[in-house]
Amino acid sequence: MLYLMENEYMTTHKVMAADSSSLDGLNNRSVDLIVTSPPYPMIEMWDEVFSMQDNSIAACMENGRGHEAFAKMHAILDRTWSECDRVLKDSGFICINIGDATRKLNDSFELYPNHSRIIDFFFGLGYSVLPDIHWRKQSNSPNKFMGSGMYPAGAYVTYEHEYILIFRKGGKRTFSGSQKN
Ligand SMILES: C[S@@+](CC[C@H](N)C(=O)[O-])C[C@H]1O[C@@H](n2cnc3c(N)ncnc32)[C@H](O)[C@@H]1O
Repeated sequence: MLYLMENEYMTTHKVMAADSSSLDGLNNRSVDLIVTSPPYPMIEMWDEVFSMQDNSIAACMENGRGHEAFAKMHAILDRTWSECDRVLKDSGFICINIGDATRKLNDSFELYPNHSRIIDFFFGLGYSVLPDIHWRKQSNSPNKFMGSGMYPAGAYVTYEHEYILIFRKGGKRTFSGSQKN
């Protein structure tokens, strides 16, 4: 809970209903901290959101071309990450909640590593990748192994975590004078 006790601690909040791939209302290098959770690529509930923005994605999914769909969905998220990079101040932070996706397409089950794809993007922009928060979402299921069970090559462990990735734009902030208190 946040207590606002004195005027000097008051903050103003502006809510903007907008497409995050075009943050026109925000100036370059004007934001200290971004915390976000995008639609997760290759998780079925977000298929439509991605397909609406690139209609070739639906065909990839229907034809079992999962890797291609994964790349196209991340290309859409990259537009938002580029905008985040534009508006974030130097030494600012961006924290991204993301889960990897497990998916069976055309009878082929696999994991789509959303978190490492996003790390690659920010690493490529020169961001400092900081230790992430590993969000455990433990299942109560008694079946810790899924798939074909008794046959080792066909068994896979259940997936019970998400990530909160933390990136810093460049070096540490430096504080001076009264900012230190
Ligand atoms: C994984 S959910 C996160 C929900 C959020 N944590 C909350 O509690 O409302 C992803 C959210 O991103 C929104 N979204 C999808 N595309 C967007 C875009 N281009 N710009 C802004 N928001 C978008 C979806 O509508 C959805 O609410």
